[in-house]
Amino acid sequence: MSVLKDKNILLGVTGSIAAYKSVFLLRLLKKEGCNVKVLLTRSALDFITPLTFSTLSNNKVYIDFVEDEKFEKKWNNHVELAEWADYFIISPATSSTISKLVNGNSDNILLATFLSFSKTVFFAPSMDLEMYKSPSTSANIKTLIERGCICIEPSEGFLASGMQGKGRVEEPENILEILKNHIRENLILNKKKILVTAGPTYEMIDSVRFIGNFSSGKMGFAIAEAASNLGADVFLVTGPTQLKTEDISIKVFNVTSADEMLDQCLKLFSQIDICIMNAAVSDYKPAKKFDKKLKKKTDLLEEVKLVLNKDIIKELSDVKSDNQIIVGFALETDDELNNAKLKLKNKNLNAIVMNSLNDPGSGFDSETNQVTFITELISKKINLNSKSVVAHEILTEIANL
Ligand code: CTP
Repeated sequence: MSVLKDKNILLGVTGSIAAYKSVFLLRLLKKEGCNVKVLLTRSALDFITPLTFSTLSNNKVYIDFVEDEKFEKKWNNHVELAEWADYFIISPATSSTISKLVNGNSDNILLATFLSFSKTVFFAPSMDLEMYKSPSTSANIKTLIERGCICIEPSEGFLASGMQGKGRVEEPENILEILKNHIRENLILNKKKILVTAGPTYEMIDSVRFIGNFSSGKMGFAIAEAASNLGADVFLVTGPTQLKTEDISIKVFNVTSADEMLDQCLKLFSQIDICIMNAAVSDYKPAKKFDKKLKKKTDLLEEVKLVLNKDIIKELSDVKSDNQIIVGFALETDDELNNAKLKLKNKNLNAIVMNSLNDPGSGFDSETNQVTFITELISKKINLNSKSVVAHEILTEIANL
């Protein structure tokens, strides 16, 4: 999923010959799944038409503070616009607009919205090379950067004046990449390598039968996808489930038994920063797997003896380094909090997510969940919600560790 999906973006366009390039930028933002509202200065209208932007953005275009709508004056609220948006991109940004941004001028809606906007602003200067090099423009750009704005430097090449040099507004594709990289770098799990286990394990009795459980894998997959959306590099080791992830960046390892799950986890473990062990691993496996289907003979089947599976999470926590984090899940039916705290201690975990089967809306095949996130120091309830929202909240707690 694009990091820009569902983000609200303000695109400010000022009066430069490069204004046409912001049409392409708008198209790229829309393709990424953004909601975009465009603000034009009056001088931008000399270069492009509002209709192009309103059609492509599917939103009205903002030019003036007040507009006439069928003889009725309507106020365009710059404060509401500023609150609505996650990011503000001013591209192209002329020297005149840059200077006004520095001085706190608010005589058009773009400038007033900038003053009301408290999140990150990107501005892409566009002007002739001498204007760009001038001490006043340089000082203004430096001031905006010092105040937290991100300058998307112009590139070098032929300029509208016929001269050659630095001043061409950056290409829309590069502006988009700069914005996406900025978002990625600020994601709470950026570049963390996360191992997630999910689903049940099947322990084979003979060639056609197994011991398993009803785990659907939904919570584990939700965690893997939420972690990936938060910037993590995700390795998903899953037992048999019907699920497929659409997130192609997640590396999926399909396993069947607890032994296979353990082997796969151990292979990956040395490169992992955070393990989130959501799989419902079978505690026992048949002592021996029969090659052929067992025939029904007597009332009591004595051939099948069960032996304990290795505890995967414990095997990992026994060899973990100080900077690796391991989080377990505990599915409990009675004395939930105490049992979960015991597992936290006995398995030497950094945190455990407690799931009570007594809570309505939680459990194996449910679309929702409610859990308690427990560490040595805190115990925090995460309320009933879709598994993906709960996954996001669990990951926020883990990031705080
Ligand atoms: N777990 C594991 N390997 C096992 C059993 C459990 O990695 N062989 C992990 C689970 O993925 C989970 C945590 O240990 O993160 C707790 O699992 P749970 O089934 O609740 O605990 P058990 O230790 O199996 O205890 P019990 O079934 O007796 O409650």
